[in-house]
Amino acid sequence: MEALKTAIKEHGTVLPGNILKVNSFLNHQIDPNLMYKIGKEFAQLFQTAKITKIITVESSGIAPAMMTGLALNVPVVFARKSKSLTVRDDVYTAEVISYTKKTNNQIYIEKKFINSDDHILIIDDFLANGEAVKGLLQIIKNANANLTGVGIVIEKSFQPGAQYLRDQGIIVHSLARIKSLANNKVTFMND
Ligand code: G4P
Ligand code: NA
Ligand code: NA
Repeated sequence: MEALKTAIKEHGTVLPGNILKVNSFLNHQIDPNLMYKIGKEFAQLFQTAKITKIITVESSGIAPAMMTGLALNVPVVFARKSKSLTVRDDVYTAEVISYTKKTNNQIYIEKKFINSDDHILIIDDFLANGEAVKGLLQIIKNANANLTGVGIVIEKSFQPGAQYLRDQGIIVHSLARIKSLANNKVTFMND
């Protein structure tokens, strides 16, 4: 998606540890016009698929998920994070390990917001190791819901998450695919 690649080139900075900082339009300040275009792009990519609901993880997944929900006219549910989730029988939970942030979170979605009739599109801002998406897949499985596919704003193709998902036959559409962040330079997959 050209507008996204342009925003990454103009406003993205590379931090040590292969981190792409895009907090001027995606992760802190948010560019609503760009998010709206992102939502419409995902809606087009998944236009022939059956989708009844979008799920993501708080907080940075919410903006692109919301705009995709608007474009597809379906509800958006974001999994909440919790350091220590007290035992509850009204939620689906999964464990999410973050290699980037060296943290371990439980994520959860209330059972009433996802069920076996749902056809679910997962949307997230970044796909790196894939731990967040794996957590959402676990929740979908626990709910006996159906996975339609995964939409990612920025895929770090040099990390294992995207390949792991595609190897399982999961449809993954990424709007920008980054081949490398070496030498403080963003190189896209099809440059
Ligand atoms: P994974 O889900 O693909 O395994 O991601 P990983 O553990 O590597 O990263 C954990 C967090 O860091 C996630 O956000 C993920 O979106 C984010 N992240 C990974 N690589 C990058 C990067 O290059 N740039 C930026 N800006 N973020 C990256 P999170 O913990 O869910 O945080 P939130 O922002 O959604 O609250
Ligand atoms: Na995220
Ligand atoms: Na993030």
